[in-house]
Amino acid sequence: AVSDFKGLKQGRLRLAAVTTTKYFIPRMLGPFCKLYPGIDIEFKVTNHEGLLERLNENVDDLYILSKLPENFDISYYPFLENPLVVLAPIDHPLTQEKNIPLQRLAGEPFIMREAGSGTRSLVQELFDEHGLKVQVRLELGSNEAIKQAIAGGLGISVLSRHTLGLEGTTNDVAILDVEGFPIRRQWYVIYPAGKKLSIVANTFYQYLLQEAKHFATNLNKTTAIK
Ligand code: PGA
Repeated sequence: AVSDFKGLKQGRLRLAAVTTTKYFIPRMLGPFCKLYPGIDIEFKVTNHEGLLERLNENVDDLYILSKLPENFDISYYPFLENPLVVLAPIDHPLTQEKNIPLQRLAGEPFIMREAGSGTRSLVQELFDEHGLKVQVRLELGSNEAIKQAIAGGLGISVLSRHTLGLEGTTNDVAILDVEGFPIRRQWYVIYPAGKKLSIVANTFYQYLLQEAKHFATNLNKTTAIK
């Protein structure tokens, strides 16, 4: 039977992913672990720079990130959308406005991720491209801490919409309607080109691609992207 066959898959999956994926990868791991009880998982969560170091040292089987590395020969596959949105406190005056020009953000206290974060470098590039300087009021090494700081009225920020959870909304923060947003990115699963994946890694790779389709449907059902 198929189930016997699945039960025979044994071994360890070493997975490394950037911080925002903790809002959905653990949920995807649940059914996978039930399906393959013989597979143990080591899931390392780090920022973009930390992930590239691990890739460079060939520590893990698979890596999940949103900004493809430039100096590595890799195999990659986009499996899920990763929209970046502008978040503000729920009672912020800009929540009443439509099509807010990007320049307006430069006038707001901004909460920034730590150096080495992929989200941070993307935000920085965006403002640089437009010759804008944001006023960084606070630098925080965690998406969750940033969300709480926004809710606490400390400023605005740009984060993946996935930080709002599966529902895509919270009672504390609002998504601002800023021109050019959401920035549409992808989640990629990658590994060094030419590396032969273990049976376990390959099993998860296939599972991820398959599951992402259902997951994306659920996300789109419960959240409206403008
Ligand atoms: P980060 O990565 O956790 O380093 O910001 C997010 C991303 O690559 O989009």
